[in-house]
Amino acid sequence: MKNIKAIIFDAYGTLFDVNSAAEKCKDKIGDQWEGFANSWRTTQLEYTWLRSLMKRHKDFWQVTEDSLDKSMKTYEIDSSMRNELLNLYKILSTFKEVPEVLKSLKKKDFKLAILSNGTPSLLKELVKSNNLENIFDDIFSIEEVEVYKPDSKVYDIPIKKYQIQRNEITFLSANTWDVSGGGNYGYNSIWVNRNNNTFDNLDYVPKHQIEDLSKLLDII
Ligand code: LAC
Repeated sequence: MKNIKAIIFDAYGTLFDVNSAAEKCKDKIGDQWEGFANSWRTTQLEYTWLRSLMKRHKDFWQVTEDSLDKSMKTYEIDSSMRNELLNLYKILSTFKEVPEVLKSLKKKDFKLAILSNGTPSLLKELVKSNNLENIFDDIFSIEEVEVYKPDSKVYDIPIKKYQIQRNEITFLSANTWDVSGGGNYGYNSIWVNRNNNTFDNLDYVPKHQIEDLSKLLDII
């Protein structure tokens, strides 16, 4: 990876822990909290792909509510939990190494940005609630193109803004399909493999695989 001009991060699952909302309610939800959290996340992503294919866009917050409602029904979670879970989703925690790594990167000479399915206001609030307001040059949302990842229109957004080549971007995601999406588009994609998972067979081999973001500092 040479001539990198921008380091771009996926948000949900990469910087911010999507399971942290359900985890904070685990006393009320009980042992099934993790299964429920996975169902919520998987359904949410499926809805983004399906809506893009059907050309029936709804923003990420609406998709998050719809997928929560389905998963609460499946896991028979009391409807009184709905607001609490949604409010916690607005202030998801970062993974623990994230703030320090971002602060170190900020001292280097790269553009730093987020590229996410999230709405601009959701992303702004997440960044603010985790005290990361001064880190990013840009927070790019798919709302600009109203289609979800991995549509190439999404990966075009930073290229157009920065007027740089695709291979001048290092893109980091913990979501395997997003690593492949960005990689097939032409980014240098790095897979943040936090849970020792298996990579997808989608015509792309990640440039690097790291177990958390702190390893990025050794690579760049
Ligand atoms: C995002 C989803 C993919 O932040 O996690 O774009």
